[in-house]
Amino acid sequence: MAHANTAAHNENDNDYVRIFDTTLRDGEQSPGCTMNVEEKIALARQLERLNVDIIEAGFAVSSPGDFESVNRVAQALTEPIVLSLSRTQEGDVDAALRAVDKAKHPGIHIFIATSEIHLKYKLNMNREDVLDAATWAVTRAKKHLDYIEFSCEDASRSDWDYMVDVCSEVIRAGATVINLPDTTGHAIPEEFGRMFAYMREKVPGADKVIWSAHCHNDLGLAVANSLAAVRNGARQIECTINGIGERAGNCSLEEVVMAMKTRRDLMGVGSRINTRQIYPASRLLSQVIGQSVPANKPIVGDNAFAHEAGIHQDGVLKYKLTYEIMKPEDIGIPSNKLVLGKHSGRHAFTNRLKELGVDIDDVDVNKSFAEFKELCDKKKIVYDDDILALVTESARRTIDHFELIDLKVGSSSRSTPHAEVTLRVEGKECSAEGEGDGMVDACYKAIYKIAAINPALERYAVKAITGGTDALGEVSCMIRENGVTVAGQGAHSDIVMASALALVNALNRLKARKHAPLKPTSDVR
Ligand code: KIV
Ligand code: ZN
Repeated sequence: MAHANTAAHNENDNDYVRIFDTTLRDGEQSPGCTMNVEEKIALARQLERLNVDIIEAGFAVSSPGDFESVNRVAQALTEPIVLSLSRTQEGDVDAALRAVDKAKHPGIHIFIATSEIHLKYKLNMNREDVLDAATWAVTRAKKHLDYIEFSCEDASRSDWDYMVDVCSEVIRAGATVINLPDTTGHAIPEEFGRMFAYMREKVPGADKVIWSAHCHNDLGLAVANSLAAVRNGARQIECTINGIGERAGNCSLEEVVMAMKTRRDLMGVGSRINTRQIYPASRLLSQVIGQSVPANKPIVGDNAFAHEAGIHQDGVLKYKLTYEIMKPEDIGIPSNKLVLGKHSGRHAFTNRLKELGVDIDDVDVNKSFAEFKELCDKKKIVYDDDILALVTESARRTIDHFELIDLKVGSSSRSTPHAEVTLRVEGKECSAEGEGDGMVDACYKAIYKIAAINPALERYAVKAITGGTDALGEVSCMIRENGVTVAGQGAHSDIVMASALALVNALNRLKARKHAPLKPTSDVR
């Protein structure tokens, strides 16, 4: 079977829309969405299962950690093109090239701003300097690589005729993809579409390259703008899972892909995404960054396929298509039926994991199976979502620096809530006590004592993954320490335990960022 991505490497194939995923780069730029290398590799593998054509794995020059991520992702994947972002400076281009040099299909994404406002206030460069810098960088990269994307940053606020000059030159220098971003989320679909039509008409060599749209969602129009670009000849969309990204986020992959699939009648083209991997990808990202998806989020939100109104329920029961324009199974949404119980064997459990899109090579199946059995003892009904939460929780704990060993909490209406926590830190058990406004507060204070930090708790949210008081609870939290924001997530049938796991997960991320001197204190009881 020819792999779906084969054509992505042929720049002239015009009959489908390439999906360029930037979850690991633009997505990671949003507050609290930082990921460590292992998490990026796990996500990149899921993006490969999703069949994305291109993965932007990071911005190699920005930090040694980013360089390593791009480099490791590039080596871990075989199908998609893997590229790094790069400004037009020599150091950037060389770092990006080095980071992807072991990729099966390497690429580079070079950008420079073209709008007057960016030239004057940010770059302090004139139009000629920018044109020269762009051409220089593309020429340098072309000596080493074929696949070169060039972006006119802030294209939607740039002078179209100036962009014609820049694009013509970079195409002559060897760019194979031209990306026109709506960097500030300022565009309206009709004008954004016209910009693509204009550029494709005026730029010499326009038919030799792929035109790409990269939209931000500040006005809630990122998907609409991307579709308008496609209607005007763009054949690549840059997007992120769950729409994460700078400020209000990027164009959401699941929304734009399903819009093209559902309205293929109007669009005339579609993507090559394996849509059944969308929901597992959304869940995995949500677990990794510790941010749940809002219930009303299109495609992957909890309510996306829930019919509440009596008239709707009646209609759906009579004939699904009365109110459903897509099938949940096409997105890989688990049916949430009772799938497994305490009598289920390891084989059935492993099969279920595979059906849920989990790569069992990434999971300690024995450990997860033992935890599943424990959960069956505590909980009458175990749903698919419980299983997903359980394996990602288990995967999270295998890379931990801090590990939760024990938690005791006590509270009554007459006494102050109190917690005793024991963590393993660098192989040594450390315990502390805390008191607080509630049991979670007490527990967090004890954990802060052990880690010797006092971060601001910027967000704390609890979600019951499935129904019932015995449901697994998923807690996500976000802490800020020394200007660094990290998120954490934990799942457990006990909410205080889930809260402690979420905080410990966040501390491990903070530790991985190496910004905070998270030295274990000795026993601080
Ligand atoms: O939004 C933007 O303009 C970008 C570029 C680097 C492509 O992310
Ligand atoms: Zn962007």
